[in-house]
Amino acid sequence: MNAPLVELRLKQIRLEAQGIVSYEFVSATDVPLPPFDAGAHIDLHLAHDRVRSYSLANAPSDTGRYLIAVQREAAGRGGSAWMHTKPRVGDVLHASLPANDFALVEDAALSIFIVGGIGITPVLAMLHRLGAVGRPRRLYYASRSAGETAFAEELLAMAGDANACCAANGLDAACEVEFCFGTSRVERLDIEAIVRAAPAESHLYCCGPARMIDAFIEACTSRPPHTVHFERFAAGSEAATDGGFDVLLQRCGERFTVAPGKTILDALLDHGIDVPYACTAGVCGTCRTTVLEGQPDHRDDFLSTEEKKANDSIMVCCSGSRSKTLVLDL
Ligand code: FES
Repeated sequence: MNAPLVELRLKQIRLEAQGIVSYEFVSATDVPLPPFDAGAHIDLHLAHDRVRSYSLANAPSDTGRYLIAVQREAAGRGGSAWMHTKPRVGDVLHASLPANDFALVEDAALSIFIVGGIGITPVLAMLHRLGAVGRPRRLYYASRSAGETAFAEELLAMAGDANACCAANGLDAACEVEFCFGTSRVERLDIEAIVRAAPAESHLYCCGPARMIDAFIEACTSRPPHTVHFERFAAGSEAATDGGFDVLLQRCGERFTVAPGKTILDALLDHGIDVPYACTAGVCGTCRTTVLEGQPDHRDDFLSTEEKKANDSIMVCCSGSRSKTLVLDL
């Protein structure tokens, strides 16, 4: 946990859509903000040792600020509620250096993005970047309603500017944006049809809820893997909360039972054990913990199949135990 941190001053808070607020940070010191690539995120340190990962939404060329957006999650662990109620303009927060698990291929003939809700944040930075390098891009953006669609005006302006410039030069449209509002089956994006119609040489990206990502992965099974990119905000499986097993912490000697309704992370925090975590959804890898004995019930989307089979590490935020006792290197 001694990774270098960036000191950020909150410059602006803005309501982007119903339940979605954006936060613009600038450097709180004389040191300029580290640069980032489109698709990158920062781990923001909130109160009570909470850390949350947020994608950077502004254009990478827009140096000097980091823009994130947070959707209020009724069922979250309190990170989004804290972000929506506590920070004030002028506050100083700390964050990790930008890291990127969702890199953009900048020289694709066509980039197609399928996005759900707050999944727009890394994609907004990608669309800006592709515009800067003169590459065509197409966005399919699903949300519950127009009022819950963040950055809609910015996206339409981006497409309008890019396409006006192309029309003036007799070129095809460079940026297409299609919104899809609603929650019923018929109102949802037809991901299979979008993927089927995508030119062979295009790269496809998806960022959104688990159901959308699962449909995207299934639709892309016959496409070359290097052209298929996705980022989950939550693991594909439900967190293990059946409890009923013991956790033994080898180094501190403490032993306790994980109660039904709790994850291992919940139980560790309840017992005052300080473990790093961020997404709490099995996707970021922050809570990876070494397993010394026992068989984890893996529920994350971070470890590879081989790593899961090895049974020597576990994402404590979402995974459980198949054995009666799990011995952890804590
Ligand atoms: S906190 Fe992100 S994988 Fe556990």
